[in-house]
Amino acid sequence: MPNTGSSLPELPPTPEVGLPLWLLAELTYRCPLQCPYCSNPLDFAAQGQELSTAQWFKVMAQAREMGAAQIGFSGGEPLVRQDLAELIAEARRLGYYTNLITSGIGLTEARIAAFKQAGLDHIQISFQASDEQVNNLLAGSRKAFAQKLEMARAVKAHGYPMVLNFVTHRHNIDKIDRIIELCIALDADFVELATCQFYGWAHLNRVGLLPTRDQLERAERITNEYRDKLKTEGNPCKLIFVTPDYYEERPKACMNGWGNLFLTITPDGTALPCHGARQLPVQFPNVREHDLRHIWYESFGFNRFRGYQWMPEPCRSCDEKEKDFGGCRCQAFMLTGDASNADPVCAKSPDHGLILKAREQAQSADLAIDQMTFRNERNSRVIARG
Ligand code: FES
Repeated sequence: MPNTGSSLPELPPTPEVGLPLWLLAELTYRCPLQCPYCSNPLDFAAQGQELSTAQWFKVMAQAREMGAAQIGFSGGEPLVRQDLAELIAEARRLGYYTNLITSGIGLTEARIAAFKQAGLDHIQISFQASDEQVNNLLAGSRKAFAQKLEMARAVKAHGYPMVLNFVTHRHNIDKIDRIIELCIALDADFVELATCQFYGWAHLNRVGLLPTRDQLERAERITNEYRDKLKTEGNPCKLIFVTPDYYEERPKACMNGWGNLFLTITPDGTALPCHGARQLPVQFPNVREHDLRHIWYESFGFNRFRGYQWMPEPCRSCDEKEKDFGGCRCQAFMLTGDASNADPVCAKSPDHGLILKAREQAQSADLAIDQMTFRNERNSRVIARG
């Protein structure tokens, strides 16, 4: 709809609403690990009851009918759900491409075989570091590293491509060569070297996590050297390097636009346009009360930031708004207190100074791993109580 206000710039027409092609099923917030960069909400321990198996079946069927093609089972740790194989089998029966996003804790040879039989297409295992001690310190578990290694090998032995994910930050990014060597030794097919993004617990612990620009540039250079080496050796292992927003001058087109492609269902059935939206002062619907078609097309929460009408300046008159949609609403809210502001990552944002300050802080920050606030029930309850 064109804008008719005389003092405001003409806006492009509101694009047609896309299909919810990607369904993220956050099955549970329970998790045996305590990573201080977890993207789950800070008050996860105070959230409502988990959806039952039958309720998930209904959600998956409705989303599939609306065009959803991929489903990611995540959490918390999705392996905590004893009905996981059942959920996978139903998702496959409905025709989804199925992904399991896991820490590997709680995985066994028997469960891998059961998931295979249920038709699971893809497993991604996350590691905290290449070094056992750092890995276990970050995970808050003494056995995590050995278990992950064993399960990564078992996943591959069952015929899955090995997809490893390392969240990198100031405490492990200088070991990027060791991380890549470990992945090569494990015969990984895809490795995601994802610099921490600052949502949930990572935002709370940002000072202890944000690497310096030098650290980041060095890591990227080493990754590129390994890419060349792997190519020369004919090794098919693919290294994917994800830089953090905080060192960009333009924001990412978060979620490919609000309510446009991604649909997240939280453990208690709240439907969100992204995993971070729960913290926004916006009412989001629940699948226990509404069907997904209503939620996706009609609900206030899913329409709140669609199109361009909601945009204030500088996004409103920016010629890049159709490319980046003003960036990330959750990041704008976390950093400025108003989700409709431009994402401060953008150099055109009047709040970009917050990002510059964080970069500057990273130069001198000195927060040890064990000084960060770990993601666990106790800390979450304290935060939820305010
Ligand atoms: Fe919510 Fe970017 S994570 S809009």
